[in-house]
Amino acid sequence: MATLEIRDLHVTVEADNATKEILKGVDLTVKQGETHAIMGPNGSGKSTLAYSLAGHPKYTITEGTVLLDGEDVLEMSVDERARAGLFLAMQYPVEVPGVSVSNFLRTSATAVRGEAPKLRTWVKEVKEAMERLNMDSSFAERNVNEGFSGGEKKRHEILQLELLKPKIAILDETDSGLDVDALRIVSEGVNRVRETGEVGTLLITHYTRILRYIKPDFVHVFSAGRIVESGGAELADKLEDEGYEAYTKGGVSA
Ligand SMILES: Nc1ncnc2c1ncn2[C@@H]1O[C@H](COP(=O)(O)OP(=O)(O)OP(=O)(O)O)[C@@H](O)[C@H]1O
Ligand SMILES: [Mg+2]
Repeated sequence: MATLEIRDLHVTVEADNATKEILKGVDLTVKQGETHAIMGPNGSGKSTLAYSLAGHPKYTITEGTVLLDGEDVLEMSVDERARAGLFLAMQYPVEVPGVSVSNFLRTSATAVRGEAPKLRTWVKEVKEAMERLNMDSSFAERNVNEGFSGGEKKRHEILQLELLKPKIAILDETDSGLDVDALRIVSEGVNRVRETGEVGTLLITHYTRILRYIKPDFVHVFSAGRIVESGGAELADKLEDEGYEAYTKGGVSA
């Protein structure tokens, strides 16, 4: 069973000629089959955690370890991490002009699976996955995220999730900016992947509404660069009622 183990993770970023510590000792274990929700105020470091796990070069790991099935993730390049089974759905998916969705998906699937998917089954696989996400087939010929609406970008992230079948999926605010129908469609996509029992999900969100569709096993409060409280699904309701004040009092900020 795949396990992602984050221990005492400290991360800095260079900004305005100064080194700023953003993550200040993150501890978290995510196992295949589990769903963890991370909730926390703006600027507390949630996306920084997601990027650091994916291997974004802007973020420097100064302390701590990240292991996937005992293998040192921090020693791996970005594409090695993807091949090892890590997946990141970005909060702000980037546009890639000149690369069609269809080309991008096939290239990614080839890299992650270790061999090119057979064309006939692949075309069907993509078509069916797009239909389930209510994406028009014309998106396959468009450039990656170019001119996509916010919600279309998020659906495209989940399309990748369904096709790449990672061991650990980090979804950074995949629910933000979705209308009610899109939220349901995207959540159903995440649940289809979850129901295989083969993915551990780290769901970063601000809203409990997505947690009505995707039931988390654990909820973590993220504040000032680390997890300050963990609980079950009921913790999300408490946060919705009471906000983060109890965790941010005393002028602590990232
Ligand atoms: N590349 C960077 N350069 C400068 N500052 C950065 C960089 N990346 C992150 N930060 C800073 O680190 C802090 C945490 O940012 P991050 O995006 O991780 O927060 P977040 O918890 O995801 O917030 P939100 O809920 O608004 O998405 C912020 O103060 C941000 O300005
Ligand atoms: Mg963020």
